[in-house]
Amino acid sequence: MRYNNILSEESNGITTIIINRPKKLNALNRDTIEELHEAFDAANKDKSTKVIIVTGSGEKAFVAGADISEFADYDVSEGKKLAAKGQELLFDFVENLSTPVIAAVNGFALGGGLELAMSCHFRVASDNAKMGLPEVSLGVIPGYGGTQRLPQLVGKGRAMEMIMTAGMIDANQALNYGLVNYVTTQDQLLTLCEKIATKISRNSSVAIGAAISAINANFKDGVNGFDIEIQGFGDCFGTEDFEEGTTAFLEKRKADFPGR
Ligand code: COA
Repeated sequence: MRYNNILSEESNGITTIIINRPKKLNALNRDTIEELHEAFDAANKDKSTKVIIVTGSGEKAFVAGADISEFADYDVSEGKKLAAKGQELLFDFVENLSTPVIAAVNGFALGGGLELAMSCHFRVASDNAKMGLPEVSLGVIPGYGGTQRLPQLVGKGRAMEMIMTAGMIDANQALNYGLVNYVTTQDQLLTLCEKIATKISRNSSVAIGAAISAINANFKDGVNGFDIEIQGFGDCFGTEDFEEGTTAFLEKRKADFPGR
């Protein structure tokens, strides 16, 4: 599929999705959100893709937020629809993919940009990255899951302060907060993400998908994560990956998982 606002490319089991509106600091307009939905969906269905990396084009920004020019004149009902549709198409969608998604945060990740990074399964940042949820400085609150995922990742007090002040934290503070797993230089960012992705891709993709569901269940209201874990654990016993993984261990060789 041809995209106007993003690039998507698969190589060695890794699909890299690049948000490509550098002149607008990769701000998420409606079309970009729809294209991202298509690209994530296609990569998740593609059997050769074991890991997805998402990043921003250019040296300045991952994503500088939702495109403010698109919603500046919205009313209450349009505002609600904007948040609901975005969460469904992109943010909840990415969080619940069975394929691991790594955010390579290569610069500003603000508002919807940080919300996208937080929807990914984990984050790696370059040392120039700056992260924040500045929505209250625009008279609105984060609407793409930021009020929920930021406290999950950094704790309630830090999330309260970040959202109330509308301030930005730098990459080292994000590392200190546990918001990102690693900080590296901008030119090493994709290399480090690919190194981690390669390590992930050697394991059972079916088991990884089940682990993502079980971990996510811990953060869902009304869902018993322990029950989801028991179910996922049991289901693994019926997979070819489980047969291969246990047989390979007993035969003292490396497993070659079929991904089924
Ligand atoms: N929505 C729409 N356009 C945006 C944008 C956004 N969230 N963020 C940046 N842009 C656009 C700017 O309008 C500008 O476009 P122009 O050249 O046509 O005027 C271009 O991207 C470059 O941004 P600029 O502000 O000139 O860069 P800067 O280096 O001076 O500042 C930021 C960088 C990130 C601090 C600043 O762009 C910013 O504060 N952006 C908005 C962040 C935000 O509030 N996000 C949350 C949205 S809910």
